[in-house]
Amino acid sequence: MSFHERVILDGVTLRINAGDKIALLGPSGEGKSTLLRVLMGLVEPLSGSVIINDMPLRSILNEWRGISFMLSQRSHLFRRSIRENLLMAKEDATEGDIEYALKFVGMWERVLQWGGIDKVAYEDFQPSGGEKSRLLLARGVLRNPQVLILDEPLEGVDKESEKEVVDRIKAFAKDKTLIVVSHRLSILAMADIFATLENGKITKVGKLEEHEKDSLLKKYISAEKQMTEKFWR
Ligand SMILES: Nc1ncnc2c1ncn2[C@@H]1O[C@H](COP(=O)(O)OP(=O)(O)O)[C@@H](O)[C@H]1O
Ligand SMILES: [Mg+2]
Repeated sequence: MSFHERVILDGVTLRINAGDKIALLGPSGEGKSTLLRVLMGLVEPLSGSVIINDMPLRSILNEWRGISFMLSQRSHLFRRSIRENLLMAKEDATEGDIEYALKFVGMWERVLQWGGIDKVAYEDFQPSGGEKSRLLLARGVLRNPQVLILDEPLEGVDKESEKEVVDRIKAFAKDKTLIVVSHRLSILAMADIFATLENGKITKVGKLEEHEKDSLLKKYISAEKQMTEKFWR
């Protein structure tokens, strides 16, 4: 994969099986978001391909988009009503479906306080980072995808709402194939397979045990531990 003739990803091979919960780790600028965008068919690699159930992604793009859902830093809550923002995921959703999705993400009461689903984001109400994330997740709940892709989903979510958002995502991802990119341990903990991306290559794929020695994952975990220990000692 390259942008303006600068190669970002080269020789990356990653096999994901249905039902896997996999986390992709790596320094920023490494190409994690790009890899997910390739996987969603949003950008085309110069060479190589994404194969889904033995079919090239290109030939099943519409079906793939119907069964997958990506929540990313780029996901946008539009200056439109909550209803319109949610219907983007599923045009024929009923009022009941919308209520279910908002309840699932724990936003129903809040939406009622704002005055209902026809209130317009950023005009009638100003969502916090955590509220915005949950509204975007409600979009995913309506779609009910088989494959859930999360790219730094907690961007802008404060520490107090983090647990609640993570719990909702966890419940939602339970029986789905999950692919996540995050630096937060709360999100990484949802995965059981970890792949590290370094210098444009996948350097290791495996369960936690396989990352115990000299791995990026290990570094993340000990960095987080050191930070918390500083406070409690
Ligand atoms: N649309 C684009 N056009 C040009 N360069 C891009 C584009 N998207 C990403 N890049 C570059 O590709 C590299 C990898 O980006 P990205 O996939 O966002 O990394 P990560 O998600 O791991 O932080 C970065 O150097 C970034 O600047
Ligand atoms: Mg990124």
